[in-house]
Amino acid sequence: MQRHFSVPANFESSIAAALADFKLTLTDSKDLAKCVLALSDFFISQPDGQTPWHESWAQVAYLCYYLPLNAARLRAVIGEGEKRGFFSGLEDVLDFGAGLATASLSLSETQKLRYTLIERASEPQRLIEKYFSYFEAQEWTRTFSGGRIQNPRRTLALFSYSLTELSDLPEWAYDCEALMIAEPSTQQDGRKLLELRKKLLEKGFHAWAPCTHEGPCPLLNQSKTDWCHDRIHFDAPAWFQKMEEQLPMKNRTLTMSYLLMRKTKPQPIPAARVVGDTLKEKGKDRQMICRGPDREFLAWMHKHKIQQEIPRGALIEVPESAQKVSNELRVAQEIKVL
Ligand SMILES: C[S@@+](CC[C@H](N)C(=O)[O-])C[C@H]1O[C@@H](n2cnc3c(N)ncnc32)[C@H](O)[C@@H]1O
Repeated sequence: MQRHFSVPANFESSIAAALADFKLTLTDSKDLAKCVLALSDFFISQPDGQTPWHESWAQVAYLCYYLPLNAARLRAVIGEGEKRGFFSGLEDVLDFGAGLATASLSLSETQKLRYTLIERASEPQRLIEKYFSYFEAQEWTRTFSGGRIQNPRRTLALFSYSLTELSDLPEWAYDCEALMIAEPSTQQDGRKLLELRKKLLEKGFHAWAPCTHEGPCPLLNQSKTDWCHDRIHFDAPAWFQKMEEQLPMKNRTLTMSYLLMRKTKPQPIPAARVVGDTLKEKGKDRQMICRGPDREFLAWMHKHKIQQEIPRGALIEVPESAQKVSNELRVAQEIKVL
């Protein structure tokens, strides 16, 4: 029932080939880990800083660590979008701050669209064109101004971990039919994304995922600390696990905060999304859900002897028989995960 993601085989062989440029292999765990630590330290000390693509350690770190991790997160987000038909009718993608084309590579696995990659640094384009040649970009550009959007009503503006380097969405993004935004799943960035949801709703966009409704977000409005994020399991290949042994951060599960929004209204969704991990309490287990402006929890009373742990981020059917007690929906049967 948990959602598992791994590194696709074609990614792995492209990463291995690209590392050879730096006289490294996937099994040089210590050297790879040193590069990852250097880039991680850079992001921690300069959270709003520009990715230092001119440094070979940054390129190595992105190839062997951030690319596979972000691609797994994005595949999960894309899967949620596909379940709802989010990409239907779209033809063009503008991938802003594309880096190693992480998001476009991931989306192109299942969606045949025209990909324009906007990336101020030149190094990522060189690596992708040389080692990920199965991915065909329509165009790479260092800068972009909205004047060039040919078909805004069929265009998806894609921001994958690239908003942190900006203060707001660029103006042209508001003209596009669809927006896919993934941001680091930290409290600060996650809550900023919920503020952006509010602004986008005011500007006429509709929420397709993760939201199941367009009311005020309960995580933002009824808590000062919550932020919306899903969790997936990352089945790391052996070389990744070896490298990770040298690192302080572990990645058996990954979280992601995202927004899928379009100007077209989605079909109403008669479901709730699980937005919390299991909380073990005296006499009951609880998980937070979202289906409207209220902060609500599913509650499994231990006396009913039903044990269920629903993956954070899954859509569920709330049984009509659930008994509402304060902010709890007490369930006496297995919940159906959609
Ligand atoms: C953290 S990286 C994310 C890369 C990739 N999208 C991913 O998901 O892995 C952010 C990228 O945005 C690029 N970037 C930031 N500001 C930009 C701008 N104004 N124009 C083009 N690229 C920009 C940076 O060079 C960097 O490659």
